[in-house]
Amino acid sequence: MAVADDKVGHVRAYLEYFRDMGVHEFYRNETLEAVELSAVVEAEPVAAAIEVRVDVAAPAISVLEALSPTELNIAKLVSLTDLAPMPSARVSAELRDAALEAIRTDIGDCTRCPLAYGGRRKIVFGNGDPNARLMFVGEGPGADEDEQGVPFVGKSGQLLNNMIAAMGLRREDVYVANIVKCRPPANRAPEPVEANTCTQFLVRQMDVVQPEVVVALGATAAAYLLGVKQTLASLRGQFHQVRGAKCVVTFHPAYLLRDPTKKGDAWKDLQMVMTEMGLKGKG
Ligand code: URA
Repeated sequence: MAVADDKVGHVRAYLEYFRDMGVHEFYRNETLEAVELSAVVEAEPVAAAIEVRVDVAAPAISVLEALSPTELNIAKLVSLTDLAPMPSARVSAELRDAALEAIRTDIGDCTRCPLAYGGRRKIVFGNGDPNARLMFVGEGPGADEDEQGVPFVGKSGQLLNNMIAAMGLRREDVYVANIVKCRPPANRAPEPVEANTCTQFLVRQMDVVQPEVVVALGATAAAYLLGVKQTLASLRGQFHQVRGAKCVVTFHPAYLLRDPTKKGDAWKDLQMVMTEMGLKGKG
């Protein structure tokens, strides 16, 4: 029942999103209530109702994966470097705050992707020093961030703050953002269409701040930043490139909270960053 509820919530967010986009195909014969009812009674009719090939046996339903990427061309994994040309000029230091504010204004009360319909409360834009040399990118806001509108303020955020302090920096010295700015329901990973819709703003934030180093927190952040779907193990221990910055991939703090034995490995990743940036670490 709980799984069915999750699936219904996920499908509902997509249906409402497409309805607002003027796509009424999904409603041809079924009302949302009918979809909901049939989903609760039996998973199979949900797929029929929305007329896409959804693998109802899969643990998490992925409506967009079931749609043809060639038709919609929105479910592709594209690196942020390839998403848009690099800016020809750098925003001067004193204008960066205002430039970031302008991006936030452009986002507005965003309804560009289904996450707007998935129960999000606040858009979590990102925060920190507009002139930061170091940027951290997570996956997407959790419950605490959704409530406060600030990235990494919950338990993961406390650990991230400790990691930053161990590097000899303060949280306000770095810039922190996420792949998506709205909380995915039930803290699931962002869908490609959600990430691909949202990262245009992260690209602009990165182009304003122009950090020297970007740390990807977890495999999902790494996948969307770098446009590759690989294991964390295969991405760690080397410098990648993202929008002119060096990119290091490490464990997501939430993962480290679940498995503290990996903290030593995460520290090795951060030491790579410190050496690159000439940071001496705490005390
Ligand atoms: N996890 C993330 O990936 N981002 C946040 O902002 C908080 C938790």
